[in-house]
Amino acid sequence: MNSSEWIWRSGRLQPWGEATIHVNAVGHASVAAVFEGIKAYLAEDGENLLLFRLEDHLDRLYHSARICRVEIPYTRDELAEAILGLLKANRASADTYIRPWAFPEGLIREQMVPAGVRCEVVVDSWPFQSGFKREGCRAAVSSWLRVTDASTPPRVKAFSNYHNGRLALMEARENGHDWPILLNEQHKVSEGPGACIAMVRDGVVVTPSLSSGVLESITRSTALTLLAEEGYEVDERPVDRTELYLADELFFLGTAWEVLPITTVDGLRVGNGTAGPVTERLYELYFSLVRGRAGRHLSWLTPVPVGAHV
Ligand SMILES: Cc1ncc(COP(=O)(O)O)c(C=O)c1O
Repeated sequence: MNSSEWIWRSGRLQPWGEATIHVNAVGHASVAAVFEGIKAYLAEDGENLLLFRLEDHLDRLYHSARICRVEIPYTRDELAEAILGLLKANRASADTYIRPWAFPEGLIREQMVPAGVRCEVVVDSWPFQSGFKREGCRAAVSSWLRVTDASTPPRVKAFSNYHNGRLALMEARENGHDWPILLNEQHKVSEGPGACIAMVRDGVVVTPSLSSGVLESITRSTALTLLAEEGYEVDERPVDRTELYLADELFFLGTAWEVLPITTVDGLRVGNGTAGPVTERLYELYFSLVRGRAGRHLSWLTPVPVGAHV
């Protein structure tokens, strides 16, 4: 099921099926929509869901909104309360994906959203089972380039940016791969359509720098922290396409994709064709962190009692 019983909409809980808008509000109004994708993980004791890095996701939502001049009429605390209230209302008791989003309200038929136009804010959520896909995925470098900071900034998490990722995904699927890897306008590696990318080369974990045309990914920053704490050398720098072909390990990083091994790139096998040792270790570290087993970075975890009522 891709929905829950309740949705939070501009200040109140609403039954999911009643959360509708006029069809005229779907076109230009949604061009400016910004959003976040957050996960809540069932803690090992089964008593709490743990929202992962909620504050960082809310910060990024406000950053996206600022760049797009979308005025969110709620404070961070109010949105955090809304998310907690929604999980409780839905009696969420398993891994859950939470999507807060904001868009200019009304039947806007123009591309310009003048200052002062009210924004609707919606939070929806749905069950989302997590787990390591050791068999990984097949990736291919796309002929579509990533959108650029000079036109449609990838640093912004806007629905409109996913048009770019979708084109690349359609091409990859057409050619028998699972996911595309997009190059930026300098033809350096940027990211996938819904995740960042990292590689292991000669024992160093390398990921494209934040100026490579990527979203400022929270999973990426988590992974870099965890790997550095484990003693791995980590490097953020421009990455050439051909380095992908020489990598010992390659993996995607994202809230939804978590740690996803890449086992072929443009048909070339990566490593021995399954998840490599650094990828496996990162997965263990990540999952023990998000499920509250690690006993570290506790400020990144916001507990919500399982099955609570509003
Ligand atoms: C285009 C893109 N890049 C990277 C990411 C990974 O970001 P995060 O780790 O914050 O989910 C996402 C996922 O939201 C994404 O959509």
